[in-house]
Amino acid sequence: MSRNIVITGGAGFIGSHVVRLFVEKYPEYRIINLDALTYAGNLANLSDVEDKPNYRFVKADICDLEAVRSLLREERVDGIIHLAAESHVDRSIRDPFLFARTNVLGTLTLLQAAREYWEPEGWEGKRFYHISTDEVYGALALTHPERPSGPYGDVFFTEETRYSPHSPYSAAKASSDHFVRAFHDTYGMPTVISNCSNNYGPYQFPEKLIPLFIHNIRDRRPLPVYGKGENVRDWLYVEDHARAIDLIFHEGKAGETYNIGGHNEWKNIDLVKQLIRTTDVLLGRPEGADMDLITYVEDRKGHDLRYAIDASKIERELGWRPSLQFEEGLERTVRWYLEHQDWLDDVTSGAYVKYYENAYGKY
Ligand code: NAD
Ligand code: TYD
Repeated sequence: MSRNIVITGGAGFIGSHVVRLFVEKYPEYRIINLDALTYAGNLANLSDVEDKPNYRFVKADICDLEAVRSLLREERVDGIIHLAAESHVDRSIRDPFLFARTNVLGTLTLLQAAREYWEPEGWEGKRFYHISTDEVYGALALTHPERPSGPYGDVFFTEETRYSPHSPYSAAKASSDHFVRAFHDTYGMPTVISNCSNNYGPYQFPEKLIPLFIHNIRDRRPLPVYGKGENVRDWLYVEDHARAIDLIFHEGKAGETYNIGGHNEWKNIDLVKQLIRTTDVLLGRPEGADMDLITYVEDRKGHDLRYAIDASKIERELGWRPSLQFEEGLERTVRWYLEHQDWLDDVTSGAYVKYYENAYGKY
């Protein structure tokens, strides 16, 4: 079956992996990447697929109802995979309005445009897939803080866990999830949502922990560890997330939610030490030589202590499993950043940035 799919946020970290997977795996589909190219969007992430005949890039803001409306009609779109968002917690603490605008109003704009286009001819064959985060569930306790890496306890986020977001980022994502469910429950739109744990891998903007620290280790700059480094995150290789998105888009049940996670919990400080060891070896430095770069800094405001996903529903119902062991994924990731120093330098110097304007100014 041929499909015309809009992927929003396709020039970002996870979106670029999803676009690549769909363009290469489904030559019979038309893949339209709708992205505003904010500081986080970079077309260099997709240079290997930009000339494929089944791929088109459209620069547009998801908050622009007219632009979204006309694109859906022009391309006769029957599927939307929605990843566009403001995604960094520290930025959300500085500018919560921007996060409400993009993540809440942007999602609502897409839902409204899709409804206007799809509802009159019926919902059959349509799909609105919203990519969300485990951060909407709030934070878990550290039940076994003495253990160096997971599992820290037997309490995990399930699809039934009550929403309890703490940061402006997770509050905005939670709100967008509620709007997606509301469109399913009110209008019967065939929606599906997935909530994933922390991703790592190539093309992640170096403001997030892993690429930022690889960059700093390379240049022998301090590694700012928030608080005591005791917070726990559950890390998943980005290509495993993209495979889960492919499965859920095609086989997930309308109206359902799927949690995605790697069963791979790491306390930040243990992860940072592992990252230093791996990077040192790949740089030809003595293993552990850069441990002195670890610098404890003031904690993030409202810093969630622990995230951990129970992924048994997607494993049981759709047969998904993470494919990579963390040590292997981390080494592959470090190797990629070290082999793509131009990408890293371009992104950190801002050379790639295409400024865009929104209601709250220039970014
Ligand atoms: P990212 O910040 O790397 O990329 C976001 C993309 O969205 C960029 O290309 C940006 O240009 C685009 N964008 C932002 N505002 C836009 C707008 N108004 N209109 C159109 N495009 C816009 O983000 P990411 O880490 O790839 O995350 C993608 C999605 O996955 C987000 O919805 C995020 O909440 C979710 N998620 C991320 C993680 C993670 O660990 N990174 C984990 C779970 C879920
Ligand atoms: P991050 O990559 O920002 O993802 P998230 O906040 O969405 O989990 O951060 C991962 C963890 O690393 C989080 O507990 C915050 C911490 N952290 C630091 O200690 N120092 C840093 O410079 C950054 C960016 C994050």
